Amino acid sequence: MLRGDKVGLRARHEDDIPVLLAELYDDVVNSSRAESRPWRPITPGSKDSRLVVDDQDQAHVPFSVVESEGGTLVGTASLWGIDSHHRSAHIGLGLRPSARGKGYGTDVVAVLCHYGFVVRGLQRLQIETLADNNAMLRSAEHNGFVREGVLRSSAWVMGEFLDEVLLGLLVQDWKPGAKA
Ligand SMILES: CC(C)(COP(=O)(O)OP(=O)(O)OC[C@H]1O[C@@H](n2cnc3c(N)ncnc32)[C@H](O)[C@@H]1OP(=O)(O)O)[C@@H](O)C(=O)NCCC(=O)NCCS
Repeated sequence: MLRGDKVGLRARHEDDIPVLLAELYDDVVNSSRAESRPWRPITPGSKDSRLVVDDQDQAHVPFSVVESEGGTLVGTASLWGIDSHHRSAHIGLGLRPSARGKGYGTDVVAVLCHYGFVVRGLQRLQIETLADNNAMLRSAEHNGFVREGVLRSSAWVMGEFLDEVLLGLLVQDWKPGAKA
């Protein structure tokens, strides 16, 4: 278990899957905004990689996010696209609707930075998010990520092309525990 101030990141448990499926992946709008691939239903019990962890996949480390107090499941987080040559990776996260807006997202990003920089020895972390996703932008910026560019009309989301913002953080600029 990796611990932050408010949340912990632990392995995916079997009984997390129906909750994440119902509250995150079956929400077509949320899925279309958060995923780079098009929404399609996930068959219950399937081994879809968004829910079921493939421990052989070295480039993708998925976590379930739980509240520090009580251990309630609040969402999902991952380090993906881990590149051991360039020592970089991407960050992704999604919280259950009832868990949003409580500072958990900011804390999840902090814990993923600790995992990426300290546990894995990476030198660069990257986040891509829709330009109107203020909660994600702020969660990243609180942890020192800077906006490096706008990917114009790069995401097809529910009938329109939207801009994405690319944010990056280098290990030498990372200040653990500091909230900007
Ligand atoms: C994006 C997400 C992970 C952020 O986590 P969160 O716990 O809701 O965010 P926090 O509570 O840590 O808030 C971070 C900042 O965003 C702001 N914020 C939170 N919700 C907001 C909203 N709906 N609109 C605008 N700003 C918002 C907070 O005020 C805070 O900024 P501040 O400290 O400057 O006031 C979460 O909202 C989520 O899971 N959303 C749906 C899935 C998603 O978008 N995933 C990311 C895909 S790239």
